[in-house]
Amino acid sequence: MSTVAVVGTQWGDEGKGKITDYLAQEADVVVRYQGGDNAGHTVEFNGQQFKIRLVPSGIFNAKMVIMGNGMVINPKTLLGEMTMLTERGIDVSKLLISDRAHLIMPYHPEIDEIQEDKKGELKVGTTKRGIGPAYMDKFARIGIRVGELKDPELFALKLRINLEDKNEYLRANGKEAFDFDAIYAEYMAYAETLRPHIIDASYILNKEIDNGSKVLFEGAQGVMLDIDHGTYPYVTSSNPSAASIPVGAGIPPQSIHEVLGIVKAYSTRVGDGPFPTEFDDEVAHGIRERGREYGTVTKRPRRIGWFDATIIQHTRRVSGLTGLSIMLLDVLTGVEELKICTGYRLNGEVIEYVPSLINEFATCEPIYETLPGWSEDITKVTSFDSLPANAQAYLKRIEALAGVPVVMFSVGPDREQTIRLKPIFK
Ligand code: GDP
Ligand code: IMO
Ligand code: MG
Repeated sequence: MSTVAVVGTQWGDEGKGKITDYLAQEADVVVRYQGGDNAGHTVEFNGQQFKIRLVPSGIFNAKMVIMGNGMVINPKTLLGEMTMLTERGIDVSKLLISDRAHLIMPYHPEIDEIQEDKKGELKVGTTKRGIGPAYMDKFARIGIRVGELKDPELFALKLRINLEDKNEYLRANGKEAFDFDAIYAEYMAYAETLRPHIIDASYILNKEIDNGSKVLFEGAQGVMLDIDHGTYPYVTSSNPSAASIPVGAGIPPQSIHEVLGIVKAYSTRVGDGPFPTEFDDEVAHGIRERGREYGTVTKRPRRIGWFDATIIQHTRRVSGLTGLSIMLLDVLTGVEELKICTGYRLNGEVIEYVPSLINEFATCEPIYETLPGWSEDITKVTSFDSLPANAQAYLKRIEALAGVPVVMFSVGPDREQTIRLKPIFK
């Protein structure tokens, strides 16, 4: 048996969707374990492009895909995605949804917006999909779970209790209250369509693992957006780290065998919060255009920064990386000098960790080393040896600083533009 976790090592959008799709060619089951439709994953093959937020990126290849209990699911987005996939010839009957996952309700995005407006300087720049408020309800034990769509009476009871509280808050903040009947009817209609997909996912998944199936765990976001290990409070409300897979998928920790860290060859961040290696000049603009660095969900231009090894070391510590997949290497073609951050200077002292205090992280000055770039087109490269010497040296330097072997790299958005240096499923 063999399982692999695909984890974002930076601030999200590292190319997790592309690698999940690629590795799903070998996998039996693909499972998402956290987050919701704040994620935006792009998958390209055979001249087609798919942008998906909820359905695991393994849908095009794996025999079964699971949305785990750790997710928060907006059924409207999900049904839209299922319809889009079906219309484009993709079979969604193999999609299973954990009955323990939580539902995003229509009031959650509204509350997200109010909370953001109240935060002033501490505004997170969320995707306004209601992710934080849905996880708040989960932990306050008033959340509504996917399985409850199958129990109209319990669903109605919980909706009534929630609406009493939520409507009061919405009105007090100048928003319109929600109508019980409208939400009830809308969600019961979703229930009809989703019913055949709702299952005890942990039970099914454990059976698959016990039977020797190859399982891929697909993370959303990235470790720097992790609620515990990211740049709090400028984070999402779940744990993208591999450490949350056992909880979010309902499996034993021993069942995670390999953790593949997905690493952008530079850095990006969408949303607010400190970002020490950020820069904004002609070179950054070039990277943004070549890398199509605009948010999938919100279309915001992504902020651009140099590669930061301190971040990858932090991710390795909290997520246990066994291999790295370096993404978007082609985007750096033509950049004359490539900077790599190897540590920070904080109050005159050199540090090699990510300070938890946000004001300290904001004042960290990156310590850079500079490597020469390359100008050759690498988008058709199929092996490490055929990369220009400077690109090889860049990957080798990342590997040495991270202390984790580079086992894959990517030179374009298409599935074919992926180079695997070692077997990933053992
Ligand atoms: P995810 O959220 O981690 O799945 O990443 P996104 O899909 O949001 O963002 C990654 C973007 O980079 C998408 O537009 C991908 O199509 C694209 N992409 C992935 N790998 C490569 C690559 O190696 N080169 C280039 N040029 N684009 C890539
Ligand atoms: P994928 O899976 C990049 C960011 C938002 C914001 C913060 C909190 O595509 O890598 P939220 O709506 O989650 O409460 O927003 O997290 N964010 C992402 N940034 N990629 C993502 O997902 C993201 N999901 C959330 O921009 O800064
Ligand atoms: Mg994304």
